Amino acid sequence: MSAPTTFHGWLCHGKDEPMKWEEMKLRAEDDYSVDMDITDCGICGSDIHTMDANWGQPRYPVCVGHEIAGICTRVGSKVRNVKVGDRIGVGAQSGSCHRPECTACSTGWENLCRTQFTGTYNGVWPNGDKSYGGYADKWRGDCRFVFKIPDNLSNEVACTFFCAGVTTYGPLKRHNVNSDSVVGVMGIGGLGHYGILWAKAMGAKVVAMSHNDKKHDVALELGADDYIVTSDAESLAKYKGKFSHILCTGTGQDFKWETYVRLFSPNGIFINVGLPEWNFPDISPMLLAMSQVTICGSAIGSPAEIEDMLRFAAKTGVKPYLQTYPMKDAPQAVADFKAGKPRFRYVLKN
Ligand SMILES: NC(=O)c1ccc[n+]([C@@H]2O[C@H](COP(=O)([O-])OP(=O)(O)OC[C@H]3O[C@@H](n4cnc5c(N)ncnc54)[C@H](OP(=O)(O)O)[C@@H]3O)[C@@H](O)[C@H]2O)c1
Ligand SMILES: [Zn+2]
Ligand SMILES: [Zn+2]
Repeated sequence: MSAPTTFHGWLCHGKDEPMKWEEMKLRAEDDYSVDMDITDCGICGSDIHTMDANWGQPRYPVCVGHEIAGICTRVGSKVRNVKVGDRIGVGAQSGSCHRPECTACSTGWENLCRTQFTGTYNGVWPNGDKSYGGYADKWRGDCRFVFKIPDNLSNEVACTFFCAGVTTYGPLKRHNVNSDSVVGVMGIGGLGHYGILWAKAMGAKVVAMSHNDKKHDVALELGADDYIVTSDAESLAKYKGKFSHILCTGTGQDFKWETYVRLFSPNGIFINVGLPEWNFPDISPMLLAMSQVTICGSAIGSPAEIEDMLRFAAKTGVKPYLQTYPMKDAPQAVADFKAGKPRFRYVLKN
């Protein structure tokens, strides 16, 4: 059977323009390419940032969506990790340079490749074709960023692991969260709710930190031991000197280092994964020195971390909170996402 040459997907042609269901060209096949009939695609905050041009002018038209799961329908001659008929998934990264001289790719940190990072959407493949994401019926990508979905995870659940899941699992694991840790999770959205689930499964005490009181009950249901509203000085004061880690997935532009650094126990770690369009404020050398705080970031996760996360999820039974929409209702789902309604991840279904 000859390979398909096009797909249908929700295309965004410009900021504030409605998405349109249109036919577009699939990228060219090669030895490593994998074709997928998409069954499920999660909606990530990054999809919205991209369509809204928050990070600079995107390569419109864009078809976003990088929490993709589906059925493998075709593989290139060098593909060994998945086969036709497998349930497979891909996250926010679809390509890297793989060169031995690349200190990221050669050490298993393909997610930090500076030479040829191909985003699952709004990116460019080495042959010049544009990359398109999962608000669509079909996807073609590279097997080196495609994962077989474990038997005990449905595609609906698994898709959200590939971005929200690993973006929070990766840094919590890397920074050794364990039963001695006290972890504050800031921003209880798609990423933040995973942050609570993972940190609890790693044995930590977890405090949900939200900018309002609306998610109190559901955060405790997720497993958080406590819930604080970040504008409430009194409840913040309760944790002065207590946190070993803060995982920041979202915060307002009124963020101040002084407010959060004083919450750390000695040598605390502030891990930022949120990607707003504005910059963090300056931090004084004195505050940095006298707290010995480590401030770091994290980008999705490496392929090895994705595999590790899937094993950890299978072992611990971590499952996200999802709500589903038919793919045809993607515009409504995006509008509801922007209104802050998800509890906690929306998944589009074909
Ligand atoms: N580093 C990476 O590799 C990576 C990967 C995926 C996504 N991201 C980024 O991570 C961020 C979160 O993504 P998501 O999918 O979890 O989005 P989301 O579901 O919208 O969650 C973000 C949360 O941040 C808080 N927040 C948002 N705006 C705020 C504001 N103005 N003031 C205070 N709090 C605010 C809200 O939680 P509360 O209401 O509880 O405060 C919100 O639920 C996005 O910027 C996304 O681009 C980064
Ligand atoms: Zn994402
Ligand atoms: Zn590289």
